[in-house]
Amino acid sequence: MLIAQITDAHVAGEGKLFFGRFDTGAALARAVAALNALAPRPDIVLFTGDLADKGTPEEYAYIRRLLAPLEIPLAVVPGNHDRREAMRQSFADNPWLPADGFLHQVIDDYPLRLIGLDTLDEAEFSRGLVCAERLDWLDRQLAADMGRPTIVFMHHPPFLTGIGHMDPINCAGGAALEEVIARYPGVVRVLCGHVHRPVVLGWGGTIASIAPGVAHQLPLDLRAEAPSAFIFEPPAFDLHLWIPGQGLTSHRHLIGDFGPAISYSTNQPI
Ligand SMILES: [Fe+2]
Ligand SMILES: [Fe+2]
Repeated sequence: MLIAQITDAHVAGEGKLFFGRFDTGAALARAVAALNALAPRPDIVLFTGDLADKGTPEEYAYIRRLLAPLEIPLAVVPGNHDRREAMRQSFADNPWLPADGFLHQVIDDYPLRLIGLDTLDEAEFSRGLVCAERLDWLDRQLAADMGRPTIVFMHHPPFLTGIGHMDPINCAGGAALEEVIARYPGVVRVLCGHVHRPVVLGWGGTIASIAPGVAHQLPLDLRAEAPSAFIFEPPAFDLHLWIPGQGLTSHRHLIGDFGPAISYSTNQPI
């Protein structure tokens, strides 16, 4: 099974530029084209939040048009730039999103179980939240099928990254979530977004990772006083390959035109 993770598109309305200078809609279109060009094709794409920039119905209508060419099933969870009801209405035809409540989901159609956790707190501008109700929901889902390898995907990282301006706006309730995750050895990965940078760590008895954004990135700045900033490093997405007997093996795919691959003889050293 092959799983793609895209994140943090921040699509502004059609014809609008993110921060007045970057066409995030075009960036999402390039990500969709890159996903369709993969061989083999992923079985599913997980979109880990910040689909929209302001979360308006107009933005979601544009996002749906941009995603329409995607030839792979898509699952979505909201980020802090999304708005729950506008997103739900726009994705009403999605087979996994619930009709009310949090935009959690359990996807049981594949060898790996995929659990989407909604960390959006609409009372907060940026920070996420796993409250007692969400924690209880996740605990029950994990307990319901402990025998299957499972991925939990969510927007806000429930851990620290060392990036000074992002850690205060990570996922509140992260310590309690870590305790729950640690009780279920079937959780092979926790996939996050929000930070617009690649990060990987051991957490909760498993591996957690953050995928880079498909649009703009955040500069690598590990000073405590790091100012908020973004940068146009190459966009990318992650690919997670399930190898039975080994586990989840992850690759990063840069989005862009880097020229054709150049073949070489296996008799030549490289
Ligand atoms: Fe974001
Ligand atoms: Fe975010």
